[in-house]
Amino acid sequence: MKLLNLGCGARTSARPEVINIDWSPYLWLKRNPLLRRIAPLLLRGEQLQRFKSISPNIMVHDLRKPLPFPNDSVDAVYHSHVLEHLDRAAAEPFLLEIKRVLRPGGIHRVVVPDFELLCRNYLNHIERAEADPAEAERHEQYIAAIIEQSVRREAFSTRNLPPARKWLMNKIFGDARRRGETHQWMYDRISLVALLTKLGFREPRICSFNVSAIPDWNSYGLDSNPDGTPAKKNSLYVEVLK
Ligand SMILES: C[S@@+](CC[C@H](N)C(=O)[O-])C[C@H]1O[C@@H](n2cnc3c(N)ncnc32)[C@H](O)[C@@H]1O
Repeated sequence: MKLLNLGCGARTSARPEVINIDWSPYLWLKRNPLLRRIAPLLLRGEQLQRFKSISPNIMVHDLRKPLPFPNDSVDAVYHSHVLEHLDRAAAEPFLLEIKRVLRPGGIHRVVVPDFELLCRNYLNHIERAEADPAEAERHEQYIAAIIEQSVRREAFSTRNLPPARKWLMNKIFGDARRRGETHQWMYDRISLVALLTKLGFREPRICSFNVSAIPDWNSYGLDSNPDGTPAKKNSLYVEVLK
């Protein structure tokens, strides 16, 4: 079994059959011997922790480019909370690349924030906010859950930096959008299945975090935490076959 974990971030699997792939700036720093040495001087607090915790077991690759694998060569491809970070124009070529590298009958597991669920949560909260002033104070969170990550320009890691350091980091790595942190689109079970079907994937199935056609899925620890809870709340899980 060979499984690609695309846009893995910090959620990697150490199992030998998994190839974890991302382009995080931290990886880029870690790969370069000079930058690796000066990184602890440039980074502070949360940033330094992320730099230290990033696994060396990650292949650096920009997912907007063709995947560096031959046709029909992998058994399963998984990506979680990645598709919505790609421009709409880049999403289809990305999904077609996945189809190219999957073997016939191979499994493609897509996890995205569930736009339907987020909208339902928002609409339900309108009624609670009207009835209860304490809930009204929290209402903004429900709007933010849908839109904040699309409009944010400030990268997570520069939020608490002093201005000069923030300026330098933004010069090197760009803002949140250039770093691929922002959402470029959102998907629900209708639109995601329609997109995957249009591109030629077959037998779409809505799953849950701990249900998959990938054998022994829960032992990978990708969609679940060690205590068995979901790794990412408010997610939509769809599987299709090549
Ligand atoms: C929200 S994080 C999700 C990380 C992980 N899959 C998870 O579920 O926790 C999105 C990840 O996609 C990666 N990413 C976004 N655009 C990318 C691109 N063009 N090439 C490679 N990785 C990308 C980011 O670096 C980031 O690690």
